[in-house]
Amino acid sequence: MASSTLNLCCTIEGASAEQQAAMDLLGKQFLLPDERLAAITKEFRRRMEEGLAADGKVLKMIPSFVTWRPKGNETGSYFAIDLGGTNLRVLKVTLNGKGGVTTEHQKFTLTQEAKSRTLFDFIAQCVETFLDDRNLRPTGRQPPISIGFTFSYPVQQTSINSGILAQWTKGLNVPGCVGRDVVRLLQDALLRLGLRVKVAALVNDTVGTLLSAAYNDPSSQIGIIFGTGTNAAYYENVSNVAKWKGANPASGEMVLNMEWGAFDSDDFAFLPYTPHDIKLDRKSINPRKQAYEKMISGLYLGEVARNIILWLADQRLLFDGRSSEILNAMWSIDTSYLSSAAIDNTPDLSEIQQIIEKTLNVPTSTMVDRRIFKTIAVLVGERAARLSAVGVVATLTKRLELLSKKINIGIDGSMYEHFPGFKEILAETVSHFIPEDKFKNINFSLAKDGSGIGAAIVAMLATQTQ
Ligand code: BGC
Repeated sequence: MASSTLNLCCTIEGASAEQQAAMDLLGKQFLLPDERLAAITKEFRRRMEEGLAADGKVLKMIPSFVTWRPKGNETGSYFAIDLGGTNLRVLKVTLNGKGGVTTEHQKFTLTQEAKSRTLFDFIAQCVETFLDDRNLRPTGRQPPISIGFTFSYPVQQTSINSGILAQWTKGLNVPGCVGRDVVRLLQDALLRLGLRVKVAALVNDTVGTLLSAAYNDPSSQIGIIFGTGTNAAYYENVSNVAKWKGANPASGEMVLNMEWGAFDSDDFAFLPYTPHDIKLDRKSINPRKQAYEKMISGLYLGEVARNIILWLADQRLLFDGRSSEILNAMWSIDTSYLSSAAIDNTPDLSEIQQIIEKTLNVPTSTMVDRRIFKTIAVLVGERAARLSAVGVVATLTKRLELLSKKINIGIDGSMYEHFPGFKEILAETVSHFIPEDKFKNINFSLAKDGSGIGAAIVAMLATQTQ
């Protein structure tokens, strides 16, 4: 991705004056100067403090009940369930005692029925299939298997293995679950199948990512997901969490699940909303919620781009004013198309041509159309990466003292792993806000599949400390 030099990025070779004017406007809306990011970061920090002081704030800053760190020398095999928005994975994680793990896992696609009604019975059946296929099902004489449950939605935890679902995010919307203990729902479903499996830990995916990064590298302090959704967890001194009424843990610290995707959702005052974002929000299943997530994460970026494309086509500035049934349908642009478009460097932008004409079924495209398409992908991606840096900087400056020595940030998710330029722009933007002598101590690492691995580690730690 190009740097944020507005004119460079948005000048379209061969464009008409009207097309160029529209692209310049997009440039102004999407390329955010550092001063703008600084103002958003300041507000983000204020919201973090607010969430540490009391419940029910826009940044929930949820105590995870994880008060330990793995040493990296733990060994043994542990189980986990990792529930995402479209898939479910059941895993057996083997810790090798040297910070490394091997996993054996099975992936299940959530059925429509599971998504609309029977989610927890479906999960229990997947666990049963996993255990039976491997002859691992405990018999009546054996102790129950302890399992960690990664649940990537906002849950107000009430203990290490219980928590009340606050709301669904990221497109999942199973009725009858909000306000209930998701571990109870799962444990009951496991019981109905007669499975001797005990849910020992309930873990947000960011908490899992942090713990798996920490098993590998003890300097890990923050775990982040930049994927279908976005969020972060970090180790905080319990003395800084004014709302915490529980006992003081021996370690003095606890992992907090920030639920940062909700930032700015109460007053919509600080993020750089464009009409394209507002349109998306209005038509989403969770309007006026997850405002930050909707500008950053994979579930939404394709739709932001689609709104821009239709805005241009409706003014006859793109595709000669034509669209298609596919392009007219919400969510028809997957964020992976933007990834492909952003790195298409072929002379005739043939990858983009394929997306426009074959995938989206728009009859023809000119070179100018394809250049505009590419620029939209770059703009939407660049804004996401720079806004992502806001959360990272806010979290780092909250614990600035940690930066006097090396710290690791474990990150997982499709945006971070696959969106061209995302990780570079993220790191570069963070470097603009953290003094150089401190920035050099930060290591950003990919914590691939960390959410499930981390849940198994938490299940192990929870069982050992009980
Ligand atoms: C959820 C978080 C989760 C994040 C990343 C958000 O939509 O609210 O709990 O950590 O997605 O998966």
